Amino acid sequence: PVGAPDKALAKKVAKVGVIGAGLMASQFALLFVRRLEVPVLITDIDQARVDKGLAYIRDEIAQLRTKGRIDADTANRLNALVHGTVDKSEYADCDFVIEAVFEETGVKQQVFREIEKIIAPDAILATNTSSLSVEEIGSVLEHPERLVGFHFFNPVAVMPLIEIVKTPQSSDEALATAFVVARNLKKNAVLTADAPGFVVNRLLAKVMGEAARAVDEGTPLLTVEKAFAPLGLPMTPFQLIDLVGWKVAAHVQDTMVRHFPDRFFASQNLHRLSEVGAVVEKDKNGRVTGWTKEAQKVIESGKSP
Ligand code: 3HC
Repeated sequence: PVGAPDKALAKKVAKVGVIGAGLMASQFALLFVRRLEVPVLITDIDQARVDKGLAYIRDEIAQLRTKGRIDADTANRLNALVHGTVDKSEYADCDFVIEAVFEETGVKQQVFREIEKIIAPDAILATNTSSLSVEEIGSVLEHPERLVGFHFFNPVAVMPLIEIVKTPQSSDEALATAFVVARNLKKNAVLTADAPGFVVNRLLAKVMGEAARAVDEGTPLLTVEKAFAPLGLPMTPFQLIDLVGWKVAAHVQDTMVRHFPDRFFASQNLHRLSEVGAVVEKDKNGRVTGWTKEAQKVIESGKSP
């Protein structure tokens, strides 16, 4: 890939650490174990979160088995390779540690500060941040050269792309390792500059943000959905927002507005709706059919719930 360092520089990855056990982290923990077949460790701030992530992974492995995609031996092997705990000391022998914790620079810095004390001196670190500055996140590290961005897309199992983000400090070894890991995950990796939203969210934030603003302006939800059809993308704007999560979409939007106030504009409804549990209703084909009652009320009242 363009800009990728020589793969001979890549470090061998014999164990992967995933920090966070939320939906994104669990999805890629599953992918790591499935494609790399190495031990994968997941942690979170409490055991309940770890258990939820583990349950997702084990359930997905069971479904792969039911669908005949893997045999019983493979299912057992994959299950045995995944380990969840709240004990961060277990990152000590991981070669590649990637975080997907709360999308806030300070929170990610705190996590990396703690992890750097535990991991081996040559371990590679990665962040799955969707739009924050990787350099800023890494500025608290003693060795910021070992950090790269490694940005997955939803749904992780099917989206073919990974954005690998290079900071001015990222070492060739860290970048080469990231590219080899991505290739072993059977993903296409592209190298992007460390600019807000990288490339994909720069584009998607426009789609999601402007769709939400059309609703702010009074255009009905289904009109926006219908008006989008000629672009021929696989998902309509509100399907996409619902897929990535309303909170995540609002957060990405905030980051873009903060960095490019003359090019991105906040949507009031995006924020209000991110506080509602279920926002849109969908039919069995996944097509958005309307707002939930709660969301409709929020839009009509123009207030936060
Ligand atoms: N998890 C796992 N697998 C899934 C899935 C999910 N949530 N949704 C669909 N799939 C799988 C299906 O099982 C199926 O696999 P198979 O062919 O092996 O049986 C395959 O994907 C295709 O599914 P379908 O035929 O049911 O569905 P579609 O043809 O409608 O495709 C889609 C589904 C691939 C998700 C397609 O709608 C799509 O490409 N959507 C766009 C998604 C997108 O843009 N993602 C980026 C979001 S932005 C982001 O994540 C960044 C963050 O930082 C904000």
